Amino acid sequence: MIDKINTLLEEVKAFEAKTMEEAEVFRVRMLSKKGAIPALFQEFKSVPPADRKAVGQQLNQLKQAATEKVNTIKTRLETEASSRQPGKKRPDLTMPANFSPIGSRHPLSVIRNRINNIFEKIGFVISEGPEIEDDWHNFSALNFPEDHPARDMQDTFFVEKDPDIALRTHTSSVQVRVMETQQPPIRTISPGRVFRNEAISARAHCIFHQVEGLYIDQDVSFADMKQCLLYFAREMFGEKTQIRLRPSFFPFTEPSAEMDVSCSLCDSKGCSICKYSGWIEIMGCGMVDPNVLENCGIDSKQYTGYAFGMGIERIAMIIYHIKDLRMFFENDLRFLRQFESAM
Ligand code: DAH
Repeated sequence: MIDKINTLLEEVKAFEAKTMEEAEVFRVRMLSKKGAIPALFQEFKSVPPADRKAVGQQLNQLKQAATEKVNTIKTRLETEASSRQPGKKRPDLTMPANFSPIGSRHPLSVIRNRINNIFEKIGFVISEGPEIEDDWHNFSALNFPEDHPARDMQDTFFVEKDPDIALRTHTSSVQVRVMETQQPPIRTISPGRVFRNEAISARAHCIFHQVEGLYIDQDVSFADMKQCLLYFAREMFGEKTQIRLRPSFFPFTEPSAEMDVSCSLCDSKGCSICKYSGWIEIMGCGMVDPNVLENCGIDSKQYTGYAFGMGIERIAMIIYHIKDLRMFFENDLRFLRQFESAM
């Protein structure tokens, strides 16, 4: 029996195959149920106990050698076959790696980050709130009367009625959340996405972005607000920028104003961006109405403060001379790639 095993082992060692078929024929002859090696295992049953250990070891070695041989030959033949397929070349390991294309920040993110940085430099911290808001945080706490038109279906996307849950129409809702949870001094800015039921056009969209600002402390005055906003305007639009405040109305501030910046594109001489006025409106602002402070649990006799809110799209349109707001939302790569160098 040992002789038979050795003969087969020699045969296995010497075996070579050029095709898959040859390899398969060999496998069947050696290893299949009726093959030579299983036959030896049958014969092994009649080996006398004294020789079993030695013969058994030899036999196992033979089986292992045959299996390995068939596997190596088959794998080799497979790799050879696939590298011979037309159009399929062996990889060139010396070739330099492909560059992964580097993405760019969205212009709205670039401008939002710039706004954040400008205010962070003078001690404002960033706070955020939910995009789905209740009536209290979006309207009531901010002193909107029951019948204010902004609460109307025409302006607001309602998620649920009674109690009213809606997509926030401005980031002023975050002011309320901050004041409800923190005591002055408060210095915060809240960037975020807001929603209004408006027809989409070059100047309006149903989704846009705002940054809200809030400053509450003892003895905060309108003059403090002006100085802060002048600082912001000059950091954002250049050091020669002038600001102008026009009286306005918001339910949550008293007095309220709208702020214009001098047009940096034409040096206030008049151009299509500033509509030949020399000024561009960029935000609403004012002294926080004492009712709002009280609604949020802040003593309006002890504390005063100012608030402001601006649209990020609007600032981005001025900085980058973009005439159509819809471009921010279309994800056209020809547009977005222009901001590759912007941080
Ligand atoms: N929430 C206002 C809007 O969406 C913007 C605004 C105006 C915010 C005046 C303020 C403010 O904080 O004081 O149009």
